[in-house]
Amino acid sequence: MCGIIGATGDHDALEIVLEGLARLEYRGYDSAGVALITEEGIWRERSAHGTTSVAELVKLAESAPAVRRTGIGHTRWATHGHPTAGNAHPHLDCTGHLALVHNGIIENHTELAAALVARGHVLTSETDTEVVAHLIEEEIDGGLGLAEALRAALKAVRGAFSLAAVHRDEPTLIVAARRVSPLVVGLCEDETLLASDIPALLGRTRRVVTLDDDQLAELTPGHLRITTLDGDEVAVVERTVDWDLEAAEKEGYPDFMSKEIREQPHAVADTLLDRQAPDGTLVLDEVRLSDQSLREADKVFIVACGSSYHAAMVAKYAIERWTRLPTEVDIASEFRYRDPVLDERTLAVGVSQSGETVDTIQAMREARRWGAKVLVVSNVVDSSMAREADGVLYTRAGPEVGVAATKTYVAQIVALELVALKLAQLRGTLPPEEISALLGQLQTLPGLLERTLERSDAVDAVAGALHGARDFFFLGRNVGFPVALEGALKLKELSYLRAEGYPGGELKHGPIALIEPGTVVVAVATRNRLSEKMLSNIAEVKSRGATIVVVASDGDDATAAVADHVLWVPEVEPLLSPIIDAVPLQFLAYRLARLAGYDVDRPRNLAKTVTVE
Ligand code: G6P
Repeated sequence: MCGIIGATGDHDALEIVLEGLARLEYRGYDSAGVALITEEGIWRERSAHGTTSVAELVKLAESAPAVRRTGIGHTRWATHGHPTAGNAHPHLDCTGHLALVHNGIIENHTELAAALVARGHVLTSETDTEVVAHLIEEEIDGGLGLAEALRAALKAVRGAFSLAAVHRDEPTLIVAARRVSPLVVGLCEDETLLASDIPALLGRTRRVVTLDDDQLAELTPGHLRITTLDGDEVAVVERTVDWDLEAAEKEGYPDFMSKEIREQPHAVADTLLDRQAPDGTLVLDEVRLSDQSLREADKVFIVACGSSYHAAMVAKYAIERWTRLPTEVDIASEFRYRDPVLDERTLAVGVSQSGETVDTIQAMREARRWGAKVLVVSNVVDSSMAREADGVLYTRAGPEVGVAATKTYVAQIVALELVALKLAQLRGTLPPEEISALLGQLQTLPGLLERTLERSDAVDAVAGALHGARDFFFLGRNVGFPVALEGALKLKELSYLRAEGYPGGELKHGPIALIEPGTVVVAVATRNRLSEKMLSNIAEVKSRGATIVVVASDGDDATAAVADHVLWVPEVEPLLSPIIDAVPLQFLAYRLARLAGYDVDRPRNLAKTVTVE
């Protein structure tokens, strides 16, 4: 989720790179850096000043050498390693003659780093990226040119990447390669540009070539050569982009929310990457709590706000089922002001996309005062909560611009379920085969999410039929209950419609009085151990005239038969189903808001991060 820009040609590469970095800044990166090939060799500057990093770089660039025709730049969204200048890209090899930028995650970086150090390399950062610079260095030492050296180095690399590198000895060349993470080349008469995102190129050109997975590009002024990572030549297919800057920032989507909903498979896949050692042990990066203290925990207390609270509620079901540890979930602003029962054997888990929500920060401080160990699940590396915690598990959803949480919410559930499985492993409450099977199921989620995303047209049709309704109830049971709460919250925040989330069995104790013809009931009714009871709850509201929408597992005709509208989803292990079932409800809220003409990225009265009580 980092930003890459590169330029080689007759113009001032530094100016082009800085301009490109500034265009990428809207995502709120934590650091930035640039490397140029000059007559004296590689010149590099880096800055870790949050969103002002690029402005800082511009100041630092005043001391750059005058001739600078080839350069690469990077804006970083930290995943491995803190957001410091030392971890900012570009990274150099031991000779200082090679500079490299990277977007993605090098999954086997730990073993590669150990082997490189054993062979005498000095690694200076905490990043997963730096190993690639040193792998290329070894190939260059062996006599290869930069392009072939990158191709050879990548044979050892596992994971997702888009990479760009320059070397002092080939001063007009940028080499780049991609697998999973995006990369586009920009073509001009006398210069060739490279970027992770089209907005970075728009000030200079609209002629672009998108690289495919496992391709390697060699950029020289006015020229582009593409080969596969195996060395086969690939035809260069150029297209012209007609987006304006705002459209390009959204990558062609009408708003950030749709873009972020579509990024969910990626967010989940990245959050799952790199979490299992070869012996099957779950390794949760930056969990600085000892296995012993995790094993000794006799209670889990999860605290959060908003959508993060709903992710926490899902986690309670998983933790209690898989570990048999009593698990409490509380809203941070409530937790702070009551007398929660927790002590040094409690594992307190704070869940926060931003890591800056003041109520959750204070709740974690409160938990620490009670002696609890504090684990934080956050999307922002080195956020305030992450810095204060005993351990952190990062969701790797990338920056989320839309105010309503989408991709970070599903990534939180995945991260929390990994914590649950880790606890189960340590406590021996699940046999290893079952843990492996569940991890295998988690790995299927990105594919299932893709299939669910393909069904947005069907949700749009249902939204069209519901347009004009004012009152909504969302019902669910078991893990379907937090899904219902999150569905109702999305509808409230985006469409300004009255929407209540309720446990299906509880409706008859009061709220059923509100059901009348015209009320819409959205039932999360995917297959689980309470499916039959859910059907009875649907019957109760149907007989009182409600319009019934069900989220149903593919092929479940019995559930579909009781509904006016069906939102089909692929079936998955019930404890993982909230990750899939969230998607049609996100689409529903989104479409109803758009039909009403509302701004889905900036709903009224709401803030992305709430830093006041
Ligand atoms: C705000 C946002 C929500 C988010 C909540 C908690 O209300 O609009 O989308 O769920 O804060 O934020 P956090 O960063 O702590 O997850």
